[in-house]
Amino acid sequence: MTGAGPGSIGEAVAARLADDGFDVTVTTRARPVAEHRWHELDLADRTSVATFAQWYADQGAELDLLVNCAGIHLDLGSRWSEPQVLDGHEIHWRTNYLGTVDLTRALLPALLAAADARGTAGVVHVVSKLHERGVAAALVGEDWDYDSWVAYGSSKLALVHDAAALADEHGARGLRAVAMHPGAVSTNIADRGLETRPVLRRLRNLARPLERRTLMRPTESAEHLVRLATDPAIVSGYFHKSHPADPAPLAGDLDLRARLRVSTNEWLTGSR
Ligand SMILES: NC(=O)c1ccc[n+]([C@@H]2O[C@H](COP(=O)([O-])OP(=O)(O)OC[C@H]3O[C@@H](n4cnc5c(N)ncnc54)[C@H](OP(=O)(O)O)[C@@H]3O)[C@@H](O)[C@H]2O)c1
Repeated sequence: MTGAGPGSIGEAVAARLADDGFDVTVTTRARPVAEHRWHELDLADRTSVATFAQWYADQGAELDLLVNCAGIHLDLGSRWSEPQVLDGHEIHWRTNYLGTVDLTRALLPALLAAADARGTAGVVHVVSKLHERGVAAALVGEDWDYDSWVAYGSSKLALVHDAAALADEHGARGLRAVAMHPGAVSTNIADRGLETRPVLRRLRNLARPLERRTLMRPTESAEHLVRLATDPAIVSGYFHKSHPADPAPLAGDLDLRARLRVSTNEWLTGSR
């Protein structure tokens, strides 16, 4: 379970899974989580991903469910037209898409071993309805007019494709893979990226009580996620909370998916 920091959806999912009897391992970037087995993980750092995967393998624990909840949507109260670049990539793309795919591929042998042993294993990519804002050019490295919301949406659109590709490639072996929009949930996501913006940060603090009343609580979202993740009859697809939903038309573009796979595999194997 990635992205289980305080107040996050991931924290609530981990608690719910533990209540249901799962042996849960969680990650955050730095802050230890006392309630579960924990390891640090920075998705935007390939060494950190490799170190985490090796540590997990060394634990000797099975991996029958991977929930990729970690993600960012920086400064979501506004939008910017100049990309922030991290490790040579736009920051949402590097963190949400490349980081999640890097981790999932590193853990795939363990997931497939669990699928072989138990007949089933699962991956949940937590995406967003905002994947509808994603553009094809961003998925295949072509030029486009930058907008931070579109960048976020594109990173989530690519994850919808990745879940479908995982189910296609490994479904026959028992791997289930779904993409899920968790709903509009009151978490810390809107605080991220405001470290250097004190006015926006103050406004956000003022809006917080209203937000808590109007948005879903992380525990509600976690109910949906756990239902989805643990139902052996759900093998693939895009879900709005725990209900099947139609993703954006671009999510069904198989030519785009194939081009995304090629460029992602090149990146994963170090040739870009
Ligand atoms: N909240 C919503 O309304 C909403 C709506 C649609 C989709 N989502 C998606 O739901 C997921 C969970 O978000 P949330 O609302 O729970 O936000 P959150 O409270 O900000 O939690 C995000 C988690 O992701 C982790 N994270 C961020 N960057 C990371 C990195 N580079 N490497 C590893 N971990 C990283 C954070 O780790 P630290 O604890 O170390 O900071 C944190 O634990 C995200 O993928 C988000 O896009 C949320």
